[in-house]
Amino acid sequence: DEGEEGTPWQEQKNWEEERIRIAGMKTGAKGAQAKGQDYDYVFEDQIDFIVDKALAGDLEVEDEEDPREKERKLREAEKLSKQEKLQADRKLLPMFPYRETLLQAIAEHQVLIIVGETGSGKTTQIPQYLHEAGYSKQGKIGCTQPRRVAAMSVAARVAEEVDVKLGQEVGYSIRFEDCTSDKTVIKYMTDGMLLREFLGEPDLASYSVMMVDEAHERTLHTDVLFGLVKDIARFRPDIKLLISSATLDAEKFSDYFDHAPTFRIPGRRYPVEILYTKAPEADYLNAAVVTALTCHVKMPPGDVLIFLTGQDEIEAAEELIKQRTKSLGSKIGELIIAPIYANLPSDLQSKIFEVTPPGARKIVLATNIAETSLTIDGIKYVIDPGFVKQNSYNPRSGMEALVVTPVSQASANQRAGRAGRTSPGKCYRLYTHWSFQHELDENTVPEIQRTNLGNVVLMLKSLGINDLMGFDFMDPPPTETLLRALEQLYALGALNDRGELTKLGRRMAEFPLDPMLAKMIIQSETYGCSEEVATIAAMVSVGNSIFYRPKDKQVHADNAHENFHRGNPGDHIAVMNVFNGWAETNFSTQWCYENFVQMRSMKRARDIRDQVLGLMERVEVAVISDRSNEENIKKAIASGFFYHTAKLGKSGGDYRTVKNPQTVHLHPNSGLTEIQPKWVVYHELVQTSKEFMRTVSAINPKWLIEIAPHYYSKRDVDDLADKKLPKGKGKAGLDAA
Ligand code: CDP
Ligand code: MG
Repeated sequence: DEGEEGTPWQEQKNWEEERIRIAGMKTGAKGAQAKGQDYDYVFEDQIDFIVDKALAGDLEVEDEEDPREKERKLREAEKLSKQEKLQADRKLLPMFPYRETLLQAIAEHQVLIIVGETGSGKTTQIPQYLHEAGYSKQGKIGCTQPRRVAAMSVAARVAEEVDVKLGQEVGYSIRFEDCTSDKTVIKYMTDGMLLREFLGEPDLASYSVMMVDEAHERTLHTDVLFGLVKDIARFRPDIKLLISSATLDAEKFSDYFDHAPTFRIPGRRYPVEILYTKAPEADYLNAAVVTALTCHVKMPPGDVLIFLTGQDEIEAAEELIKQRTKSLGSKIGELIIAPIYANLPSDLQSKIFEVTPPGARKIVLATNIAETSLTIDGIKYVIDPGFVKQNSYNPRSGMEALVVTPVSQASANQRAGRAGRTSPGKCYRLYTHWSFQHELDENTVPEIQRTNLGNVVLMLKSLGINDLMGFDFMDPPPTETLLRALEQLYALGALNDRGELTKLGRRMAEFPLDPMLAKMIIQSETYGCSEEVATIAAMVSVGNSIFYRPKDKQVHADNAHENFHRGNPGDHIAVMNVFNGWAETNFSTQWCYENFVQMRSMKRARDIRDQVLGLMERVEVAVISDRSNEENIKKAIASGFFYHTAKLGKSGGDYRTVKNPQTVHLHPNSGLTEIQPKWVVYHELVQTSKEFMRTVSAINPKWLIEIAPHYYSKRDVDDLADKKLPKGKGKAGLDAA
């Protein structure tokens, strides 16, 4: 069929070879691909020493003309306007030669799987092609992204290319932020937002095309969307469905979507040399920074991309780079440090895309977002410590945490690929070749199999999908996880004992929040403190980026932060105090500055709070305030979070979760570390060196019986109960069996 003609199999074969070359380990070197073999390298910690050697001329400094320079000079000579340049750039993308064949394939097939290398132009170009071809006259062109930052940044880029103001014809929609208008015809959104849209528009009637992008990421929401859009395609023959992915493993997608044809965009990629450390790195952050600086000193022009696991690590790396280069002064060329992570304010995000001036070098510090969601031009060196922060969920214990885990081989290869987009590159893996082969999983486990499904189950139930076991999942979640979610929603009162949505459940589903937070908000009315609880919900939704603690002013910062904890009210009330303190100064910038509080996070909290208050009005939760009644505020929190309770261990220091006992600890940032209350409720668990409870408040265990009598018995909360555990009871049970 013609749609497939533009992609003869030979090209696919080349691709396969390229993939092996990038992977670099299965084939060994051959011919022109000799550069693709992997090397061990000795990691040198003495950056000053390296710099001195380089200056003394003792170091072999590799030299090569910057390919970007040539390009830049060519462009300069053409004297194009900014818009003409953008249009010229569009035509240079690997996607462009396939524009017509692709449009034809889309015209001929309702569902099409599109596969192409990261950076080939899938995300930015396909929606534009469809718009130019007139699809937007029949309805919006939607495109989902697993990540907030990607949705925003891609929409901004496309608005520029279409030459419209962002939010007009081209817009984006992410949780708590809708940047679209009546005019919007190309709409980027997070996969989670599209799921929400199903609640209001179950047939996606306002769309003519839906592109589920970055399908290979297999995020929870994308996986659920697969099932929903597949269903829609059956009863809406007029809608076009595109599933686009960066990996070569498209067969699975094709099989799932009733053998939909696959359109492959041949990639262009330069060889990437892969280097492994000879021995494992104990401190990968330091190793990453030093490797980057070594690149800066000895390598030809080209930017550096370091993959880190999160904001904390990125900030630490930035600090470390500054420290390490301070003494070097002008001995080394200019360094531009560009961080990128989910919570980075949007005005700072564009920094990663700014062209590096001649003589300077950019070091991008990124989370996994730069693996496939965002393409940064000009990267020549990738530093991969080999870790990622992921959801991990144990349905048996109900424990869920963000855990830093080793990446998969597939992921490591994607990362390496980022170095070879514009010229040959290098990828430094801060782990051994042996680790890569023997310790890394081949592929990343889809999120649906390692996360709590409470939220998604509530959403599906609201969409009238009752039989979840029968839902058409590409890879079904573990039955135990589904049962856990149903059980939790039942315990929260969102489902009745037949598994049907209750009135409370319907109200909870209105909030784009975890069911526990939604329950806490709705319940707060009974405790007369719904305004306070809305504030707390907004503050915890911002994440852990509220306080800051500059290295040179740590004591000042700690003193300022202690004020919010005065009287030891617990972390929830402390963050509420922060918000109220700021609100009292009429949201002053000065106040944030003096209190070492991040203004940007506060603004975001204010936006979220406004929306939560709006949603409360919609589901008729009265806004009542009683700031002084801390007990009631904590009861309201516990009414949503009674799942997240822990009890101080007998010897002190560590805690045990109440049901399905597991050892957990107070996060060092908690205001309660010195008091160590006997019973606590926590917002979330983060696992780093240990399992830490983050955002914690003390509770009275008796409340649990009052709040969740169906979940807690007197025995659970009775302090004496565990001392008197009937001896050998479990054993006797076993004998009987
Ligand atoms: O989706 P895919 O990975 O195939 O590519 P894309 O995201 O559409 O990127 C195509 C080009 O647009 C790349 O050269 C990116 O560097 C550029 N781009 C950009 O300059 N700014 C953005 N915010 C997004 C993409
Ligand atoms: Mg993309």
